[in-house]
Amino acid sequence: MIGAFAAKLPLATPGELRANGVLGLNRRNLHYVQGENRRALYPLVDDKRQTKRLLESSGVATPKLLGVIEGERDADSCLQRMADAGEGFVVKPAKGSAGKGVTVIEEVLANRRGRILFRTAGGDLLSLSQLRHHLSNILSGVYSFGDRRDSAVVEEVVHPAPPFTEIVWEGIPDIRIVVMRGYPVMAMGRLPTLESDGRGNLHQGAVGVGIRIADGAFAGGQHKNRFISEHPDTLRPLDGYTVPDWGKMLRLAARCTDLVGLGFLGVDIVVDRERGPLILELNARPGVSIQLANRCGLEARLAKAEAWAEAGDAEDAEPADARVARAQAGFA
Ligand SMILES: Nc1ncnc2c1ncn2[C@@H]1O[C@H](COP(=O)(O)OP(=O)(O)O)[C@@H](O)[C@H]1O
Ligand SMILES: [Mg+2]
Repeated sequence: MIGAFAAKLPLATPGELRANGVLGLNRRNLHYVQGENRRALYPLVDDKRQTKRLLESSGVATPKLLGVIEGERDADSCLQRMADAGEGFVVKPAKGSAGKGVTVIEEVLANRRGRILFRTAGGDLLSLSQLRHHLSNILSGVYSFGDRRDSAVVEEVVHPAPPFTEIVWEGIPDIRIVVMRGYPVMAMGRLPTLESDGRGNLHQGAVGVGIRIADGAFAGGQHKNRFISEHPDTLRPLDGYTVPDWGKMLRLAARCTDLVGLGFLGVDIVVDRERGPLILELNARPGVSIQLANRCGLEARLAKAEAWAEAGDAEDAEPADARVARAQAGFA
């Protein structure tokens, strides 16, 4: 079935996609996002400050928070503190999505006269006033849900670990795991490209590569909704890699459901070369293009997870380890 699906997908009609078990946006919104996720819980994942607080208080590793900029007045002092520290950092809107407004500063450069430049993961150089202007934009809410005023989150830069360092040029890949009622159902690696400016967001031009739930092996790949088999910048093949500590990562993702209580959840993990797997963010409306990267529809897997959860509820809900074991055995 997957073979036929892979061959046909780019030209498939909505009816053909449904027949192949592909989840569309309407059904995702109605059945899964609205049906599984209580609205009152959204702020826990839509506001990166709240997510960080929740993860840290539960002992789940996440990139270290270096500062929160609530208003214009905090912005100058925080930027000066970052420039003085001389280390890389990341600024992002607290309520942003799809990589909008995320700037990864890899390096702070200073000359003897005190001139400062910030080098981004994509290789651009920003002056202090350019970065300050970017912070003002973040605070004004242009990148954020609902366009209301927002805050900026400043956090440490995560540095990629093998095997990702072999495939990407710059920036940090993230691993998206879709978790249904606590069961990991599908996974994808998102690999930055020069175009995505170090960010792993497909909307910014990153590559999506399927990751098998069973064993963490890379399989498939898509870029801008076209099937690909190699990274467009480094020309490295996308198959032949396996995510290290895959079982641990799946358990981490499964545990996030227990923490936030969202039945349909996207868990984003980055692997730091020193700290290992870290939860980057959680998502109440995971996208559907993970299916394209895996060349496999989500519907059957989501239904299976629902059935497992309902059978479990009759007895006692399964702990995260057991849910992961079931998913690894059930999803080849
Ligand atoms: N601390 C960080 N270190 C390095 N890269 C990061 C960091 N935070 C984010 N990024 C990059 O930027 C992308 C978007 O950041 P993320 O926090 O997921 O925001 P969004 O909600 O907009 O997707 C990530 O996929 C990653 O590639
Ligand atoms: Mg993200």
